[in-house]
Amino acid sequence: PAEAVALPSSPATENIAHRGASGHAPESTLPAFRLANRMGADWIELDVHQTRDGELAVIHDKSVNRTTNGQGAVKNLTLSQLKRLDAGSWFDATHPKQTVSYRGARIPTLEEVLLSQGKQGRFCIEIKEGLPVGVEKQVLDTLKRHGLLPRHQPERVMIQSFDPHVLKRIRQSHPRLTLVQLIHFREAGSLSRPGLQQIADYADAIGYHQRRMERDDIRRAHREGLRIHAYTVNRKKKMRQLMDWGVDAICTNFPDRLRDVKRER
Ligand code: G3P
Ligand code: CA
Repeated sequence: PAEAVALPSSPATENIAHRGASGHAPESTLPAFRLANRMGADWIELDVHQTRDGELAVIHDKSVNRTTNGQGAVKNLTLSQLKRLDAGSWFDATHPKQTVSYRGARIPTLEEVLLSQGKQGRFCIEIKEGLPVGVEKQVLDTLKRHGLLPRHQPERVMIQSFDPHVLKRIRQSHPRLTLVQLIHFREAGSLSRPGLQQIADYADAIGYHQRRMERDDIRRAHREGLRIHAYTVNRKKKMRQLMDWGVDAICTNFPDRLRDVKRER
């Protein structure tokens, strides 16, 4: 049978700012999310964890150790304890050439991030593997309260996860929400056609590690009606290559670089 061809390269490749403009400002803080917006990101990507008192904090790691001056697991700290931590000084220390200081930046709540992006903000929310099931419900409730469930065109939310169970549950409860199945680095090469078809039953897109992505992966995903995103791409040369191949979205710490590459076209 004739093979379907890849979709043409599109300047419309979406620009997803990974943990905000995290190459320029401390990841997962309001300055990083606001900067992403100014740098032309179409979406901001973020991760959530639940605090001891049941609030949703926006932070990538399970613990505050790497990105703040505190110690401990988010789930063992209350929101007010988190709010006392400095989530910016580590970035100043690791970027000595920066002229701006981010000292005193705080860990935001999901609600604060949603509000920080104004009425046009678009959010790619990752739900990590192994979080209590209540977290995803709480994320959805928060989105609903903010009028962000997909009544909008263009849509303002997508949910991504490495855990298919999370996505399958959300597909059941919110069938119109855009869902992205993230594929682990080690699993990328082993995705068969039936494997992709299974994913297409509950998700709209797959997210591939950029180093594992081949031109053929894009073609094969499109053939099954799946969009395909690449994470996390920081070099312009790689961005150009993936766009030439027809990738649908690129997740990057440098949304300004992707904006510039898109402008070349
Ligand atoms: O977009 C995919 C990416 O966010 C997954 O990796 O570890 O940065 O959350 P991580
Ligand atoms: Ca993430």
